[in-house]
Amino acid sequence: MSHEDYPTDDPAVVTCGLPYANGDLHIGHLRTYVGGDVYARALEKLGQQTAFVCGSDMHGTPIVVNAEQEGVDPESFALEWHEQYEETFPKFAVDFDNYGHTHDETNTELTLEFVERMEAEGYVYEKEIKVAWDPEDDQPLPDRYVEGTCPYCGSKARGDECDEGCGRHLEPGEIEDPVSTISGNPAEYRERPHKFFRVSDLSEYLTEFLDRLEGTANARNQPRQWIEEGLEDWCITRDLDWGIDYAGEEDLVLYVWVDAPIEYVASTKQYSERVGSDVYDWEEAWKGDGEIVHVIGRDIIQHHTIFWPAMLHVVGYDEPRSVMASGFMTLNGEGFSTSRNRAVWAQEYLDEGFHEDLLRYYLATNGGFQQDVDFSWQKFADRVNGELVGDLGNFLYRSLLFAHRNWEGTPEADLSDEVRAEIEAAIDAFEAAVNDYSVRKLGDATLDLARFGNRYIQNNEPWKLVDEAPEAAAQVIRDCVQVAKAVAVLFEPLAPGKAESLWEQLGEDGSVHDAELDAVLEAPPAAFGTEPAELFEGVEDERVEELNEKLEPRVQEATGEDAASEGAAETESEEATAADSPDMEPIADERLSFEDFQDLDLRVGRIETVDPIEDSDDLVRLEIDIGAETRQVVAGIKQLHDLDELPGEKVVVVANLEKTELFGVESNGMLLAAGEQADLLTTHGDADPGEKVR
Ligand code: 2FM
Ligand code: ZN
Repeated sequence: MSHEDYPTDDPAVVTCGLPYANGDLHIGHLRTYVGGDVYARALEKLGQQTAFVCGSDMHGTPIVVNAEQEGVDPESFALEWHEQYEETFPKFAVDFDNYGHTHDETNTELTLEFVERMEAEGYVYEKEIKVAWDPEDDQPLPDRYVEGTCPYCGSKARGDECDEGCGRHLEPGEIEDPVSTISGNPAEYRERPHKFFRVSDLSEYLTEFLDRLEGTANARNQPRQWIEEGLEDWCITRDLDWGIDYAGEEDLVLYVWVDAPIEYVASTKQYSERVGSDVYDWEEAWKGDGEIVHVIGRDIIQHHTIFWPAMLHVVGYDEPRSVMASGFMTLNGEGFSTSRNRAVWAQEYLDEGFHEDLLRYYLATNGGFQQDVDFSWQKFADRVNGELVGDLGNFLYRSLLFAHRNWEGTPEADLSDEVRAEIEAAIDAFEAAVNDYSVRKLGDATLDLARFGNRYIQNNEPWKLVDEAPEAAAQVIRDCVQVAKAVAVLFEPLAPGKAESLWEQLGEDGSVHDAELDAVLEAPPAAFGTEPAELFEGVEDERVEELNEKLEPRVQEATGEDAASEGAAETESEEATAADSPDMEPIADERLSFEDFQDLDLRVGRIETVDPIEDSDDLVRLEIDIGAETRQVVAGIKQLHDLDELPGEKVVVVANLEKTELFGVESNGMLLAAGEQADLLTTHGDADPGEKVR
């Protein structure tokens, strides 16, 4: 792998976290798959050779538990869901080059090879450990078969993961007060021999790896802390029938998290075998110098930044170049829940007649990738109407229709220098977004260009020029058609279907999916392919009301069930991946005098530096320029912001707050931020550092 800017000469692999094959997909699930697809397409636009791969995660206790409930065997249960996912992803234009599954031959063989190599390198040993046991049924209770209390933070947790508290992976035997999720009875611990991966020996390597790792900041910050706290060896076997058998051990299968990431390699291998290694060589990608990019949800950071790179290192494969870890998704401010039907289902979205690209755009550009995203039909409608219809669609339709009516296509003229420069700036922004792993900025690159297009046509008013100064009108429209062509290419990763329609309208040959960035400034064809039509349709208020009427009773019912069952055992994975949002706080009754408010000295500040505070989960130390001086402020934003992106941002600082000390670091002021996600308050215009906020 290189750390050079994309495109590089080495093959890239973009992967998405494998979905467990155990239930319907909802739009919250789609966030990382859309993010991965957008990113892979964007790399290809740069000319980077890229394989975009994934597969279904077929093993593990969640599947066994659900299959048991349905009275079917885990294999047929998982295969059925696998087939459904295979059909669903393309409906959202998530076009994997290969979509395999972890129970197929390629993955099984590769997994056995990995483990053999790990053993041969001396990284696997056997140890007697305590495993949770159901005394009534006389059976072991691996992972999700047991629940209890997290030994690290005291939260309610599952056998293998502190899903409601600190997010740590839990080893067998670690959970306190274990209770069987099958019988509800207290479980006991029994001694059993298991296999362990000596991850503790790899702390130094992993620390250096994290220093090299690109992607979102959350994927580096959390694991650094885990390493500092001391890595424990990792139990890689389970007492279970379903999974990949551990060679030579009759009763043991491999822990699902061993064979699952190996599917990234297996899926790339299958792709390579299908297209031929002269077209894409999986070995070069995984054992040569591949650019490996993992796109995941933030609940599985530990697996992708500790266990997986440790395995890759030991078997001599390439390490990931980047991990992009997304925030969680909520629905109307509440967590998605499959079992409670608190969801907009993937198929339901399509059945409502919405184009897949609208949701892709919403999911990919609603805040930074590591921020949490809330979905509501109103927010969806606002963004479709404001940005896609208002900015993008409006520019395209008005300019292309005018071109068609007056010149039946692109007027003859050379592209003006002003517009060329704007398009070049959009290309630069697109390239920077790829190198910054920011799918949101990819969207901004196009939207900013379309907004420029709107201003350009509005300011130049070609409709007034067309009779008296036809050449001047032709120049304006020629420029606009070039902007439209640039939009088609640059927007293709986000909205492949809509971009293709635009490409056809422009009369371009071939497919926009194959067009790379160098096509953006090539002259458009003289004749349009089809009569210009509106690319995006708005979502009316009545439609939003109708959709809300269908959704809200479901959300309320599910939320009521949550409240009723508070404290009860929860076995569902979605609950862990959905951030809870607090009820809206009531407005305080007590009024403040204007004089009291004036006592607050609020200042505009500019962030100069941000450094995580070691040993603290949340705190960072910031240097903030507030005009007259630079202040050191401590703020709890470690997990909530991409720290690398903060320097240069303007913020609002309470400058006359008493000094305090947090984690031994003096804090001389406070940053203002909104909500659970600490959305930082900033200024709308050009206010300078030090300006008073009134
Ligand atoms: O947490 C999950 O949904 C897992 N199925 C993700 C696996 S990703 C990988 F590494 F394989
Ligand atoms: Zn915990």
